[in-house]
Amino acid sequence: MNGKVNRVVLIGTGAVGCSYAYSLINQGVVEELVLIDVNELRAEGEAMDLNHGLPFAPSAMRVWSGTYKDCQPADLVVISAGLAQKPGETRLDLVAKNTVIFKEIVTNVMKSGFDGIFLVATNPVDIMTYVTWKTSGLPKERVIGSGTTLDSARLRYMLGDYFEIDARNIHAYIIGEHGDTELPVWSHTTIGVEKLDTIINRNGSYNTNDLERIFENVRDAAYHIIDRKGATFYGIGMSLVRITRAILQNENSILPVSVYLEGEYGHSDVYIGAPAILNRNGIRQVIEIELTEKEKQQFDHSVEVLRQSMAPSLK
Ligand code: LAC
Repeated sequence: MNGKVNRVVLIGTGAVGCSYAYSLINQGVVEELVLIDVNELRAEGEAMDLNHGLPFAPSAMRVWSGTYKDCQPADLVVISAGLAQKPGETRLDLVAKNTVIFKEIVTNVMKSGFDGIFLVATNPVDIMTYVTWKTSGLPKERVIGSGTTLDSARLRYMLGDYFEIDARNIHAYIIGEHGDTELPVWSHTTIGVEKLDTIINRNGSYNTNDLERIFENVRDAAYHIIDRKGATFYGIGMSLVRITRAILQNENSILPVSVYLEGEYGHSDVYIGAPAILNRNGIRQVIEIELTEKEKQQFDHSVEVLRQSMAPSLK
């Protein structure tokens, strides 16, 4: 950015991290990608494997396994390291262990003199983003979590399937915790250029019970996938690339990422999924949607669950 080579450092070369790296390279979003993992041999092998595909990449780029020193000139540090959900576990079950891991990672990144933007993927992502902000000391605008970007993509995909409309023409947002207390903002959902309510009221073959079932499938999607294949990684990997592109290409795009609230939606000192404008400086603005009474109650509950779930060291 600003004429210099754009560099992303990825910390964590597990399934999520490598899905992100593979997607990032194939979309030609970066010029330099550095891989860091506590298992250095693993990071080295992933870099070698990715490098051998570079002759087929859409643009010239360099990929290597590096150290925390490589963070200093980086534009973006993406963290996917940490423990992942196992079958039967919720994302919030990971708080204590991943908080310890994150404090070490973020401290090491900041020791390099890093002064860019953090993008956090590790679950529970809202709390891990808060830990990153608190530990790094960076301004809140430059510490971002993947939030409900993937959840909103799932909702758009499922609504697109239901209404037989390309998902890219559906504006639908999931906000709140990236987890069991997330909520759909039906009141601001449009299918193409028509409000959802207009279509439901006009066409008897669609109904709100189907919509509720769709939302439940969105909310529980990770459990359904984990039960079948043991983990999720492609959807989150591509979601992280979408957020990375909005930042590195200074898009001023609106995405539902995990943002720090300072009074928006009536809450402060919490990271949670809400639509925000993203550009090369991170979060330009948190968008405060006008919620219905029911949506506001659900959002308030989501904030409360996150507050209650923070490791005692963070309260
Ligand atoms: C999921 C993980 C990224 O929702 O939390 O697939």
